[in-house]
Amino acid sequence: MRIYSRILGTGSYLPEKRLTNADLAAELAQQGVETSDDWIVERTGIRARHFAADTQGSSDLATEAARKALTAAGISADELDLIIVATSTPDMVFPSVATMVQHKLGTAGCPAFDVQAVCSGFIYALTIADSMIQSGSVKRALVIGSEIFSRILDFKDRTTCVLFGDGAGAVILEASDQPGILATDLHADGKYKDILCVPGHVNRGGILGDPVLKMDGQAVFKLAVGVLEETARASLAKANMTDADIDWLIPHQANIRIMQSTAKKLKMTADKVVVTVDQHGNTSAASIPLALDTAVRDGRIQRGQTLMLEGVGGGFTWGSVLLRY
Ligand code: ACO
Repeated sequence: MRIYSRILGTGSYLPEKRLTNADLAAELAQQGVETSDDWIVERTGIRARHFAADTQGSSDLATEAARKALTAAGISADELDLIIVATSTPDMVFPSVATMVQHKLGTAGCPAFDVQAVCSGFIYALTIADSMIQSGSVKRALVIGSEIFSRILDFKDRTTCVLFGDGAGAVILEASDQPGILATDLHADGKYKDILCVPGHVNRGGILGDPVLKMDGQAVFKLAVGVLEETARASLAKANMTDADIDWLIPHQANIRIMQSTAKKLKMTADKVVVTVDQHGNTSAASIPLALDTAVRDGRIQRGQTLMLEGVGGGFTWGSVLLRY
């Protein structure tokens, strides 16, 4: 009998500080950087984002989201067999955010590690957890996406600093004889390294290179729309399903125009797409679990429905997870 990974519960966390486009534009204007609510909304669909406090690390955001997911699942942290955190903005170079979350949740012993696949990180982490559950080695897994992208933005570069926000989302997976995750699909192609990257790194006690986000927006846009359709179709084919079987599309929340183009290619109407980019901005690996938790908690997503989760990000990396909720 096949073992499936079922979502037992979801949770998310957004830092207190919320900036509308007008708030951000006013802050940027003080540094001589010009932008406007109109430009940001028209090109991206973003209206607001949250920024973490200086005292918070990705592990703090992740722990808050994890606590809510554990409560929703009705289990305690001691019942977890695995913790994976998807992040590109860890508290430290090492140890991992996952081990910090484990400790903050007051538990110890189970394996805990981070996955770094930028905006596809949650899809990668979910796929790894699913494989470990299917192998029988793990019964309950906590999978988190957590990011503080505000720390790696260049607030003098208006083409990137208006796009991102901070946050965390989490799910608890449990082994079940009922579906569950139906199919997964992962890819990467390292030749696209330079169109989206943070080139700086720690070197002999200093920083070598520029430690802020660089992006060729138009190249990213073109690539994203193509691979998001391909990976969704690949997961559907593996599960012998078609686009008509999808109840909810939960794509990485980078830009409303990328999401609309993907939905159109999958012949899905806008009301079947979960959109949180307007309120969260692009929270990288946190964006998909944040959107999932939002739509679970507001009652849109119901048990038994079929969800297509898909992401694309730096690397480039991309992938999808098709599941029955
Ligand atoms: N405010 C006002 N004007 C701006 C801003 C801003 N924040 N940023 C750029 N502009 C100006 C530019 O300077 C340019 O002016 P010019 O014509 O006088 O030179 C004009 O707006 C158009 O700039 P473009 O870069 O051509 O704008 P475009 O329509 O390509 O939109 C955007 C830029 C939104 C980044 C778009 O390329 C995009 O959505 N790309 C996808 C990238 C993305 O979503 N990345 C997220 C991270 S990747 C991921 O998560 C997968």
